[in-house]
Amino acid sequence: MADDSKKLWDGRFTEATDAFVEAFTASVTFDHVLAPYDILASIAHATMLEKSGIITSNEFKQMKSGLEEIAAEIEGGDFEWSISLEDVHMNIEQALTVRIGDIGKTLHTGRSRNDQVATDIRLYLRDQIDKISDKIRQLQSGILSLAQDHTETIMPGLTHMQVAQPIVLGHHLMAWFEMIERDYHRLADCRKRVNILPLGAAALAGTSFPIDRQFTAELLGFDGITDNSLDAVSDRDFVIEFTAAASLLMMHLSRWSEELIIWASPQFGYIELPDRFCTGSSIMPQKKNPDVPELVRGKSGRVFGSLISLLTVMKGQPLAYNRDNQEDKEPVFDTVTTVLACLTAFADLIPAIIPRKDNMRNAALKGYATATDLADYLVRKGLAFRDAHEVVGKLVSQGIDCGKDLSELSLQALQSGSSLIESDVFKVLTLEGSVNARNHPGGTAPGQVANAIQAARARITESTVNG
Ligand code: ARG
Repeated sequence: MADDSKKLWDGRFTEATDAFVEAFTASVTFDHVLAPYDILASIAHATMLEKSGIITSNEFKQMKSGLEEIAAEIEGGDFEWSISLEDVHMNIEQALTVRIGDIGKTLHTGRSRNDQVATDIRLYLRDQIDKISDKIRQLQSGILSLAQDHTETIMPGLTHMQVAQPIVLGHHLMAWFEMIERDYHRLADCRKRVNILPLGAAALAGTSFPIDRQFTAELLGFDGITDNSLDAVSDRDFVIEFTAAASLLMMHLSRWSEELIIWASPQFGYIELPDRFCTGSSIMPQKKNPDVPELVRGKSGRVFGSLISLLTVMKGQPLAYNRDNQEDKEPVFDTVTTVLACLTAFADLIPAIIPRKDNMRNAALKGYATATDLADYLVRKGLAFRDAHEVVGKLVSQGIDCGKDLSELSLQALQSGSSLIESDVFKVLTLEGSVNARNHPGGTAPGQVANAIQAARARITESTVNG
């Protein structure tokens, strides 16, 4: 970082800023991430200033080419950021003045850093939401390709972490699909509120120059302009909303992680994770640790933490802009980085997991997973559900005593529970019979799961095409 003790705002000051205060108040160490968006917004602002007759076309041309040169310098890593110039905005403005002389000083006409920074974050976030949304679609298509291969792979469905009823693996994977489908739409909805232009609010009250906000909005691809200048510079709802949506997304990824970790454990053995996603132990040679899902589960904490930070940054602020708002940057940047990294890892990992079909099937066989099917069978034969539940409970207890699954009990043994039981009972006691019976939209019958996969594929292709 270069040092430059002349401030852009020190006209009324009689002593230099305290060195500690300078470092304490500076944000350039992290907000330099906004540079491309700051330059984009400055060029749009200058274009509007020229169109509105506030600057000349010669001034505009020089500003535009100066800003483009600075953008290239920053992108090439050759730009020297200065802490004493506080933030990304003043670093770039000062660099422009150094480059094109006094004309650079007129760029700030009709705007303030307050509406400038609000604009930059909105542009940044819009871009990041689009990147995250693409990653979600990529991950969803990985889920679909794995689910497609497992519409008939039986596994136990669990409640309370205990075998409940048989399901097919494809059905479980499609539950994951649905979770992030909601995340996708939450982000799309949040994007609508992000994509509004605050520029023109200036410091807080608007500007006395004849600006054309609608024109700037169009140049920057915003859907509209903010309606109140005080709210425009102070509002960070959209940042909180984004982080809330990101928190839900991370909560989902964390839950999948938990399942992957359990499934991959030697005790369960439902799946194998590819070696390239695991690490070994430096002491225990037998270990193959599920590090990637463990880290994804762990990283959810940072995003939830960011959400709480942001809510707290805002909760005590009177209108309009206060410096507290500078504290919005690091949590939101970290959220974006974390979410993108976790989605990238999962988009690669999920389609590569290797199901161990025999282990899943055996686990379903061992857990009296078809007990509900037997109760439903008795209901179809005329028994009330509560009574059927009681009968089957007793038969399960018999099975536990002799170490047999319901399907392994003799007809005679089953009939000791109820004389309504006949030889056709064995059809409903098989795992296939059980999943096939749940044959309605949203159910686990293989045909229904195949339909769900097809419908989901159509949904994501459509939204990818239509934006
Ligand atoms: N770095 C500041 C931020 O991130 C920019 C706005 C500063 N405005 C001010 N009046 N000090 O919020």
